[in-house]
Amino acid sequence: MDDLREKYLGLIAGAADEAALESLRVEAVGKKGEISLKMRELGKMSPEERQVAGPALNALKDEVNAALSAKKAALEDAALDARLAEEWLDVTLPARPRRGGTVHPVPQVMEEVSAIFADLGFSVAEGPQIETDWHSFDALNIPWHHSARAEMDTFYMARADGDDRPPNVLRPHTSPVQIRSMQEQGAPIRIIAPGRVFRADYDQTHTPMFHQIEGLAIDRDISMANLKWVLEEFAAAFFEVEKIEVRFRASHFPFTEPSAEIDFRCSWEGGKLKLGEGDDWLEAGGSGMVHPNVLQAAGVDPEVWQGFAFGLGIDRLAMLKYGIPDLRAFFESDLRWLRHYGFVGLDVPTLHGGLRG
Ligand code: DAH
Repeated sequence: MDDLREKYLGLIAGAADEAALESLRVEAVGKKGEISLKMRELGKMSPEERQVAGPALNALKDEVNAALSAKKAALEDAALDARLAEEWLDVTLPARPRRGGTVHPVPQVMEEVSAIFADLGFSVAEGPQIETDWHSFDALNIPWHHSARAEMDTFYMARADGDDRPPNVLRPHTSPVQIRSMQEQGAPIRIIAPGRVFRADYDQTHTPMFHQIEGLAIDRDISMANLKWVLEEFAAAFFEVEKIEVRFRASHFPFTEPSAEIDFRCSWEGGKLKLGEGDDWLEAGGSGMVHPNVLQAAGVDPEVWQGFAFGLGIDRLAMLKYGIPDLRAFFESDLRWLRHYGFVGLDVPTLHGGLRG
């Protein structure tokens, strides 16, 4: 029995891999293994002999089994170590520049704008691009007869024959995200909603699909002064200048009261746009105090809560900041254009790291 022990413990210790170990197991403790056969011989022994040999054989079998599983675990560990040493990947390696694609100016500007508003405490909200007519118009205080419905040149989705619900629309603005966000989160709330919008329009400054960013801040004591400060902070950070004066021009939107068009101070001297100085004004978007009817439609009590909203054109912001002359080229997928105006994919804009990466 000592010979058997020595033989198998030695062989197990020296097994090179799991296959060798498995054949050793069969050889020693398998059905016809050497130790198993010895155990069968117990039947032919006298009771006295059996009393000594039985427990000893059982102990030997346990010992061999234990050695087998310890060696198996050790071989598995070694195999894993070898794989880890061999199959590594350096995730810090930069992409190969010649093969790298570029980030389109629209998502780039969306990232920049989101980084700036995140720093001001706004979170990013989303809504569907195929939107109900109620979220797009009614809830925003735009009734059926209102000219804004017609003016927006909205794309209507078809309904099945006999389905007389109002048609869904390709959302003509990001304002319905105001409604969805308030319905989901209630007040207080501070969100921005960048995204695609659609209108039947096409020329040098209009494409049937374009991008807006909606802003909404509702609390107990928010005023137009807060709106103006937020817009000035945003404009200065976005155009990377010390300060940009914002001018409110009285206007009308059904979903705000009062309503104001947003202008940034700028100069066009020598045909070059400079923001923050000069005597010209750049139209940037619409804004105002959220109309009580809008709060009510979204389930927020206008007796308690109030706040501002604004809408800016993302494509226009991109054109102004990066000097891109024609909006239509944004959506033509011309590789030369994308290489020229695109951004390096790994340069994610942040306020501390620089918006342009
Ligand atoms: N939804 C408007 C549009 O597409 C833009 C707008 C104006 C959004 C005023 C607002 C706002 O949130 O307060 O023309």
